[in-house]
Amino acid sequence: MRLILLGPPGAGKGTQASGIVKKYGIPHISTGDIFRKNISEGTELGKKAKEYMDQGLLVPDELVVAIVKDRLVEEDCKEGFLLDGFPRTVAQADALDIEIKNLEYCLDKVINIDVTKEELIERAVGRRICKECGATYHIKFNPTKAEGKCDACGGELYQREDDTVETVTKRIEVYLEQTKPLIDYYEKKGVLVNIDGKQDIDKVFSDIVNALGSDK
Ligand code: AP5
Ligand code: ZN
Repeated sequence: MRLILLGPPGAGKGTQASGIVKKYGIPHISTGDIFRKNISEGTELGKKAKEYMDQGLLVPDELVVAIVKDRLVEEDCKEGFLLDGFPRTVAQADALDIEIKNLEYCLDKVINIDVTKEELIERAVGRRICKECGATYHIKFNPTKAEGKCDACGGELYQREDDTVETVTKRIEVYLEQTKPLIDYYEKKGVLVNIDGKQDIDKVFSDIVNALGSDK
C-alpha cells in the first residue's frame, strides 16, 4: 500500500503512522524525523534544516525532495510506504508525482487528518517523546504510567524544541498557506480520504483502517 498522511502540525500523523505501518507492514517515511535525526547527528543537512525548523518554517523544497527521492528507491519501499509530513507544498507534490510515475508506482490513498487550531496547539505543546524509542505521548491525552518515563522501554521523555506556543502557531500559519491546498490537489486526483482527527486515538485509527480496508 502506498500512502500519504496529510494534516496540520500536531494533528496526530506520527501517532497514527506507527499503527498504520505495523498493520500494513510498510516503511514509515517521516521527513520531520529524518531532519531531527540529522540535527542530532550534527550533519550538514541537519544544520541547514534546523535554521528553518526552529522558526516554524518549511525546509526548502529541493532539500526535502532530494531526501524523499533517495528514500523511495530503496528496496523496502517496493511493496509500499507511508509518507508522513511529505509533500507539504504543491511543488513537492508535483515532484512526488513525477517520481512515483518514474518508479511505475501508483498512490493508493492520501489520508487527511482534520483537527481544530486550538486543539492542535494543546496537542503539540503537551507532546512528549521517548529519547530511546521515539514513542509519542501527551501529558493529558496520552500520559505515561510513570511520569517522564516511556511505557514501552523506560526511556526518558523530552519535548521537541519547536513545540512552543509561538512556533506551533507559526507552523499552523505555514500549514494553512502552503500545505492545505494539497487537500484539493489530492481530492481532484480522487485519492483523498478525510478523517475526523478530533476523536480519541483508537477511534481515529479504526476510521483510517476502515477507509483503507484490511488488504496489504
Ligand atoms: P514534522 O515533524 O513533520 O512536524 P508536523 O507536521 O508539524 O507534525 P507534528 O510532528 O508536530 O505532529 P503530528 O501530526 O505528527 O502529531 P503527533 O502524532 O505527534 O515537521 C517538523 C518540521 O520539519 C516542519 O515544521 C518543517 O520545518 C520541517 N519539515 C518536515 N517535513 C517537511 C517538508 N515535507 N517540507 C518542508 N519542511 C519539512 O501528535 C501530537 C500530540 O497529540 C502528541 O502528544 C499525541 O500524543 C497527541 N495526540 C495524537 N492524536 C491524538 C488524539 N486523537 N487525541 C488526543 N491527543 C492526540
Ligand atoms: Zn521508549
